[in-house]
Amino acid sequence: MKHTSMKHDDVKDYYGKVLQGSDDLQTNACCTPDDVPDYLKTVLAKIHPEVTEKYYGCGLVAPMALKGAAILDLGSGSGRDVYALAGLVGEGGSVLGVDMTDEQLDVAWRHEDFHAAAFGYAQPNTAFKKGYIERLGELGLADDSFDIIVSNCVINLSPDKPAVLREAFRLLKSGGELYFSDVYADRRVPAELLDDPVLYGECLSGALYWNDFLTLAKEAGFADPRLVEDRVLTIENPEIEAKLGGIGFYSATYRLFKLDLEPACEDFGLSVTYLGAMPNGGAEFVLDKDHVFAAGAEVAVCGNTYLMLKDSRFAPYFEFSGNFATHRGIFTGRGGRLPFDPANGGSGSCC
Ligand SMILES: C[S@@+](CC[C@H](N)C(=O)[O-])C[C@H]1O[C@@H](n2cnc3c(N)ncnc32)[C@H](O)[C@@H]1O
Repeated sequence: MKHTSMKHDDVKDYYGKVLQGSDDLQTNACCTPDDVPDYLKTVLAKIHPEVTEKYYGCGLVAPMALKGAAILDLGSGSGRDVYALAGLVGEGGSVLGVDMTDEQLDVAWRHEDFHAAAFGYAQPNTAFKKGYIERLGELGLADDSFDIIVSNCVINLSPDKPAVLREAFRLLKSGGELYFSDVYADRRVPAELLDDPVLYGECLSGALYWNDFLTLAKEAGFADPRLVEDRVLTIENPEIEAKLGGIGFYSATYRLFKLDLEPACEDFGLSVTYLGAMPNGGAEFVLDKDHVFAAGAEVAVCGNTYLMLKDSRFAPYFEFSGNFATHRGIFTGRGGRLPFDPANGGSGSCC
């Protein structure tokens, strides 16, 4: 895949000039479901309305245990997720947003002091830089410098998705994660649909076929991508649906850990117990769709899952048992189902 400035310019035009606000979107691809946890509703209620009006995300990019984290948001737009995360990381954390579209950045820059005051901070813990998410080296961002990288409905718009994933891997600290929502297709989207600025701008024709995404993620170094949640996109625009000719689209949140993981889930007789004290968490901790840990229950896990919990910021919230001394074969306790399978609890559309 080659980088083309043509697609960048088309996308800048779409988000900087064609759209004036989320009401101008022509499909429901960029919309976030309403079932937002209460602690997040409290933070979102503090976001400036001008920022919210130009929000074009497709999921929630607020994983647990964020206090003190250094976070990077790829394609931060008007800054809604940057500001929500700024409220969650606390004054000791920091959130940097990168975007290429002047009009979106102008909105984000305008409200830094407003949000610092809203969260009661002496000074902003946010920053925004203009740049391309495929070329973050140009912004002087150092290797291994972020705890978490988020992105919300952006990577589908990139003309060079492998570069974005490679850059994310480079910038994450060991044990950090890329936690991001995006749009995926149930098959490869025909090349001619990429030239339609509306289909591309609405986050549809640039969407990766999910299995190609998994391959690219693994090639970038993220050995065991985990699907956290997904929902069907219903489009709800007959003209656009006709052009798409029956391709199915999903909005999904994946988490990709930068860890020395194996290509498959292997069994070493390991187990973990969630201690139940995650800030803002309830009685359960959701690592991904196949791994929901109830407080106090000891659960057998594969080597990769064990490492995602033990060698990450989640370690203080778990008790760990076992070691890697004896391999027992492939781990059979995990779902192993296809992503976006309705039988796997896929949810409906949001708008
Ligand atoms: C669908 S909007 C999502 C914005 C934001 N994440 C949100 O949830 O509101 C896509 C954003 O990504 C930015 N973007 C798309 N491709 C980009 C790229 N290659 N480099 C930097 N920014 C990009 C656009 O400028 C736009 O602001």
